[in-house]
Amino acid sequence: MTTELTRRDWLVGGATVAGSMLVSKMASAQTVPAPILKPTRENPIRAGFNENVYGPSLRAKKVMDKAAETAHLYNFFAQRDLNKIISDMEGIPGSHSAIGNGSTPFLERSAMACAIKQGKVLAPEPTYQSVVGTAKMLGVDVVSVPVGDDMHINLDAMRAAMTDDIKLIYLCNPNNPIPSIIEKNALKDFCLEMSKRALIVVDEAYYEYVNNPDFQSMKDLVVDNKNIIICRTASKIHGFAGVRIGFAFAHPETMRLITGPFNISLANVAVAGAVESYQDLEYQNFIKQKNRESMDILEKMFEDLNLEYVKSNTNFAFFNAGRPSSEVATEMRKHGILTGRPFPPFTNWVRLSTVKPEEMQIVADKYRELFG
Ligand SMILES: Cc1ncc(COP(=O)(O)O)c(C=O)c1O
Repeated sequence: MTTELTRRDWLVGGATVAGSMLVSKMASAQTVPAPILKPTRENPIRAGFNENVYGPSLRAKKVMDKAAETAHLYNFFAQRDLNKIISDMEGIPGSHSAIGNGSTPFLERSAMACAIKQGKVLAPEPTYQSVVGTAKMLGVDVVSVPVGDDMHINLDAMRAAMTDDIKLIYLCNPNNPIPSIIEKNALKDFCLEMSKRALIVVDEAYYEYVNNPDFQSMKDLVVDNKNIIICRTASKIHGFAGVRIGFAFAHPETMRLITGPFNISLANVAVAGAVESYQDLEYQNFIKQKNRESMDILEKMFEDLNLEYVKSNTNFAFFNAGRPSSEVATEMRKHGILTGRPFPPFTNWVRLSTVKPEEMQIVADKYRELFG
């Protein structure tokens, strides 16, 4: 059961964190689920799935409650509203934007399009598995290119691995499980050059969290280029992982590869909630602030324990535990803390998703106690 507290109650009850006054003012209109201060196996702290544990904004939740009244209707008009909000916000034509049940359908269909063309997929390793996994299930060969020693996606090595039978290139930026980004100019050059030879999917699931001058979304490229698809999701900063809304940006000719003739698959509740959430900048800023606070707690632990880690551009950290991540996961789970699964070949590295700062402190304290 989730108990709801007002933001004020929650801050009074919670640990004092830098910047909390600012956030309290910013998010005074929000209510959030109570933090899990006594994690158990049954009610764990979920630091393993890159979710936004605050859930959807209060504004979005109110609208979603109301939208249940129109659950019997198809939602073409609300979709049109959402598409306009997103395309205006991104500065791309509405014809170049599509809405999905999360970004997964677009990622999977990209892999299907590659299978239909009887091509191979080129992808970094490690990376997010939606495209790669779907491709493998369909019997498509995947050419995997290890990230560089700097833990960044190695574009030069990917270029070198390119062959004429590769029909799809998947890039996750920021990457997952390694939260590094690809430098914007290098990425743009790569996209322009390689899109002459294959379809490129740039998965920007975590882009809202990035605070890095070297990062740039590749969304503008879709206006003229027919071989680039950008995927976005409301699952992360908007807290919609269980509600399901995502976007693809692509040239209309390309969009046909990853969408159907008309879209009746979206839930009314999800579309209505997203319309509200994407306009709720106060909430998005609140989540970014909380993410930063939690990341500071993790980075302090990494520094104190002298653990190697990758500077994060997302809502998760990736660090070298010096022991199998499966062992860390097993021990932490005994104390009601869920951590990321193993990510071969980085089997000694652990992915920890940010949770509320007071939960993050419990995670860090437990890690120190068990492994420090
Ligand atoms: C890089 C990346 N892309 C896509 C997704 C899935 O997004 P969605 O919930 O929109 O299907 C995830 C989820 O963790 C992800 O990490």
